[in-house]
Amino acid sequence: MLKSLLQSQGFLGCGLVQILGYYKGFIFMTIAIYPGTFDPVTYGHLDVLERASKIFDQVLVAVSADNSDKKTAFDCDSRLLLLVENISKFPNVSVEAFSGLLVDYAKTKGASVVVRGLRAVSDFEYEFQMAQMNRHLDSGLETIFLMPNEKYFYTSSSLIKQVHLFGNRETNLVPDNVSIALRNLSVKKNIKSGGKE
Ligand code: COA
Repeated sequence: MLKSLLQSQGFLGCGLVQILGYYKGFIFMTIAIYPGTFDPVTYGHLDVLERASKIFDQVLVAVSADNSDKKTAFDCDSRLLLLVENISKFPNVSVEAFSGLLVDYAKTKGASVVVRGLRAVSDFEYEFQMAQMNRHLDSGLETIFLMPNEKYFYTSSSLIKQVHLFGNRETNLVPDNVSIALRNLSVKKNIKSGGKE
């Protein structure tokens, strides 16, 4: 706004306009990281991601490769792909795998914010501990919590996997590509177990 005002008053020449543009583009750009296991991504995650994409200049979805305690149903490449296929409508969002500590990864990416979704009160304790530890490791990295739509308050990737894989039922809580991937996983699981459940 300042730039257009100065420009309309004839205060700025081309060079200065360009410098202000660079200034705005590079110095003030807020990069946020949205980390998680995403095993698999759900509509709840995408809801949080959409909210974050409206607030921050760039949002980097960071998929934990091997740095959480979780035993995953999908390997890292599949989790990445399932996400990538769902972010085309967000022009300022990208996806990448990460290893090691989140704070170190954030630094290499120039990110100053970590976004986490906060659903029910039960999330709070875990999220609080993680945010405090990350702050202890890097006081310049701020954690911001966003609440997804209440439709997604009581879902999680594990619960959704249980319904799809063990109940052979489908939920409307995941995008189509994830439904298909879960169906394929379920078929593989049944073949492995010889149909015995
Ligand atoms: N909608 C639906 N479900 C959601 C959700 C939403 N909006 N937000 C979170 N969830 C669910 C996830 O599906 C997941 O469910 P699950 O446990 O049943 O699989 C659960 O909430 C939390 O998962 P997620 O958001 O993916 O986080 P995580 O706990 O799996 O990931 C890392 C944690 C990867 C961010 C963390 O381990 C990390 O930073 N690791 C790097 C190492 C490190 O720096 N460690 C120190 C951290 S203090």
